[in-house]
Amino acid sequence: MSVIMTGAAGQFITPLSLEVASRNKVYTSLFDAPMAHIDLPAKADVMVIAPATANIIAKFANGIADDLLSTCLLSYQGSVVIAPSMNWKMYENKVLQENLGKIRARGVLQVGPEKGPLACGEEGPGRLSETADIVEAVRMAVTKKDLSGKKILVTAGPTREYIDPVRFISNRSSGKMGYALAMAARDRGAEVTLVSGPSSLKTPLGVRFVSVETSEEMLDAVTSETGDDTTLLIMAAAVADFKPGERASAKLEKSENVSVTLHKADDIISHITGRSNRPFVIGFAAETGNNVDRAEKKMQKKNMDMIVFNDVSEPGAGFEVDTNRVVIIDRKGRTATELLSKDSVADMVLDRFLENSP
Ligand code: CTP
Repeated sequence: MSVIMTGAAGQFITPLSLEVASRNKVYTSLFDAPMAHIDLPAKADVMVIAPATANIIAKFANGIADDLLSTCLLSYQGSVVIAPSMNWKMYENKVLQENLGKIRARGVLQVGPEKGPLACGEEGPGRLSETADIVEAVRMAVTKKDLSGKKILVTAGPTREYIDPVRFISNRSSGKMGYALAMAARDRGAEVTLVSGPSSLKTPLGVRFVSVETSEEMLDAVTSETGDDTTLLIMAAAVADFKPGERASAKLEKSENVSVTLHKADDIISHITGRSNRPFVIGFAAETGNNVDRAEKKMQKKNMDMIVFNDVSEPGAGFEVDTNRVVIIDRKGRTATELLSKDSVADMVLDRFLENSP
């Protein structure tokens, strides 16, 4: 990583602290090295401007090259991520917005700013995005776009099946696997819709997000979001298999014993696989124990194209954790993975989809 500091940046922080953090020379002037404005951009996979002031945004939009950073931006031919940060009145200024519009139209990825308290004491849009969001945007910018042109629908998280207005039946799904799949598909250039049950995870940047609560709402969302042009449906959600026969309109009173009759919930996958013009469909099988054959039977029964088996009783796999060990099953065979991050599992599932798609 190479760091370029503008004169203004040097008023806030010393080059030495960024040299220590980046373990590399920090460049501050056009004349630090004879050809830095050509050589630094030529070596970079991505250029990130964080924080991006109104000044550098205006220079970049209009091709002004009067210091090292603006000159490097002009000679750079790769992906650029900018994270604006300034006072909210400056941010909302028409000229600034026009400049941002110009650079976004040239393919620059903008992340933030966030709304909130600003350094000047005022509140509004202008806060620099969280580091994690900037890293997410960088990941998006540098990933090979082998899924571009594909429309992918991913479901994630649990559903809630209400007994009365305050009580529901749900499950332990956190949504992590589905969110990882949606983000990986987005990074690889797909147009992604994420239909999510209740989850504490942050809504991913750059995906169409549909929030649902019950299995009925998820069914409605999936059926209406799956169009003729949908290439792939990934049902990573832990949809309820059963739901209470009816939802009491008022909170049930306490009594010694209450019995709730559970009825089979509508199967969402079958609604889609039953269509004549259907996308490629990937399901998930959460099993307790090494029941890979059972997962394969589920794939055949519901007419899926692929199923991802995971043993949720195994430490480090399944619910709530950041890792997973899975067996990916399709009509050609099985691939068992090591214990991997859910991000890596997501990429493997998408790789397998690409191998299967015409
Ligand atoms: N699924 C669905 N609609 C439901 C329930 C599940 O589309 N009402 C999907 C899930 O999103 C998942 C796959 O079906 O992709 C899981 O298949 P399922 O046979 O329901 O397996 P389990 O949920 O693991 O349940 P069980 O083992 O009890 O059959």
